[in-house]
Amino acid sequence: MLNKINALRAEIEAIQAATPEEVEALRIKYLSKKGSVSLLMNDFRSVPAEEKKAVGMAINELKNFATEKINSLREASEAGKAKAEIPDMTRTPAPWPLGTRHPLSLVRDEITGIFRRLGFNIAEGPEIEDDWHVFSSLNFAEDHPARDMQDTFFIQRSPDVLLRTHTSSVQSRVMEHTQPPIRIICPGRVYRNEAISARAHCFFHQVEALYVDKNVSFADLKQTLLYFAREMFGPETKIRLRPSYFPFTEPSAEMDISCNLCGGKGCGFCKGTGWVEILGCGMVDPNVLDACGIDSKEYSGFALGMGVERITNLKYRVNDLRLFSENDVRFLREFEGAH
Ligand code: DAH
Repeated sequence: MLNKINALRAEIEAIQAATPEEVEALRIKYLSKKGSVSLLMNDFRSVPAEEKKAVGMAINELKNFATEKINSLREASEAGKAKAEIPDMTRTPAPWPLGTRHPLSLVRDEITGIFRRLGFNIAEGPEIEDDWHVFSSLNFAEDHPARDMQDTFFIQRSPDVLLRTHTSSVQSRVMEHTQPPIRIICPGRVYRNEAISARAHCFFHQVEALYVDKNVSFADLKQTLLYFAREMFGPETKIRLRPSYFPFTEPSAEMDISCNLCGGKGCGFCKGTGWVEILGCGMVDPNVLDACGIDSKEYSGFALGMGVERITNLKYRVNDLRLFSENDVRFLREFEGAH
């Protein structure tokens, strides 16, 4: 009997199987009710009593051995099957869901692109700034309301560390280490302490332009503005400059464009005036040039600054500022294909 068991063990040791179906056939052959291992139990009945213990143990051991062997063959054959199922790597891939560009990025790039065609280079500066670059170098009086806690997010007081309230800070940073000619366009995010609503937000985006050289005049500014307005809003666009005040420019102006919704006839969007305001501008105040180490007797310049959200509203009629930062994909998908 023990010989029979050993022979069967040797046979099972040698079995091989490549597929799960072959493994199953082997399981039936050895371990099913009528399998060779189970049939040993029939012989067991005729084993003399004094040998029963040893033979019983040998049969159990064989049964365990056979079960383990078949399990490991099954695992190996299934792994082999998985390997055979590696997908065809040469197949054309499934369509990849593409994201869309954010409307503010689209419009920012359009604005900077127009100025780049005029020879302006992109310049960037930090969002966390000091008082000098955001206010003092730009000719803001000590008691100017923009410095007030209500507008500016201060991170630290004396020395002041704050979130920039406008991208004009990049002007002074560039002028400090560059001599004219300077032609820069500065896109960036700015922060103001405002309650969030459809019409105001505590952060938004601006693009600033600065041109400093010998003999830069207001006529250069006007021509640049007209070119920009027509490139951005179409060749029929008219511009109008109204006198204004900014600490860092003298004279200063605000520019309106003819309302691109009604073509200047007057509608709800332009409140019946036919004009919509889009940016602030002016000739760089000589105090600013001198504060940044540029000789104001030799050089002059113009600057302008605009809100990207404002321009985007005019182009795409987004009437709630909050949509820009909520990242609702239904809103973002509306700009699919825009570029
Ligand atoms: N910095 C101004 C603001 O935040 C915008 C501005 C106006 C920028 C006139 C300029 C400028 O460069 O000349 O409202």
